[in-house]
Amino acid sequence: MINSLDYQTLQRTAERRRSLYDLSADLPITTEELHGLLRDILRTTPSGFNSQTARLVLLSGAEHRQAWDVIQRCVQPLTEPAAFEKTVAKMDGFRRAAGTILFFEDGEILRDLEQRFPKFANNVPLFSAHTSAMHQYAAWTQLAALNIGANLQHYNPVADDALKAAFNLPQAWELHAQMVFGGILSPTGKPREQKRPVEERLVVLGEK
Ligand SMILES: Cc1cc2nc3c(=O)[nH]c(=O)nc-3n(C[C@H](O)[C@H](O)[C@H](O)COP(=O)(O)O)c2cc1C
Repeated sequence: MINSLDYQTLQRTAERRRSLYDLSADLPITTEELHGLLRDILRTTPSGFNSQTARLVLLSGAEHRQAWDVIQRCVQPLTEPAAFEKTVAKMDGFRRAAGTILFFEDGEILRDLEQRFPKFANNVPLFSAHTSAMHQYAAWTQLAALNIGANLQHYNPVADDALKAAFNLPQAWELHAQMVFGGILSPTGKPREQKRPVEERLVVLGEK
């Protein structure tokens, strides 16, 4: 084991982060602490060109449940009636949690970057997706460190416009993911699966 307390703490948190769906509305931290956690994430997570394009929207309580009502309405016309009952049950599970973080990227800044750096313009959407993913992972693990469970959802793009309208968010913001979080009622039940052995996925070249 690597002899560093910082490493061991980080690794323990990485191990603790799982996709958890059985969540409650009770959090082991205060609202102020939750806001502080999100501010810390925005302050410390890197972004392409240091463009700071990530925009996080924290939905708690009634607004959190409203978001899942909105998403459910967007998904219904695209779902077979026979399958919709299952969808509603899944969304009921999300509604029972404490909140949702919507991960957006500010399209206005991205379009500006494309214009100012034409050589990189084609890569701006890729960097933007990476930036958003880094924020998502930071949130997921930092919540896990506080014993708060979360799962990651992708009802974009079908729900983008309806969510922006419901919460009066800028039209230029691009939705990347929705993270549902809450108190942990039960663990994942799924062992951490290595579908491809780590040894096959790590290439080490050069002298040690
Ligand atoms: C890019 C990405 C997209 C994902 N999308 C979804 C999703 O839409 N719905 C969902 O329930 N889980 C989603 N997941 C969760 C993965 O299925 C999950 O992380 C993976 O199975 C490993 O399980 P673990 O999170 O418990 O370690 C996503 C994860 C990643 C990294």
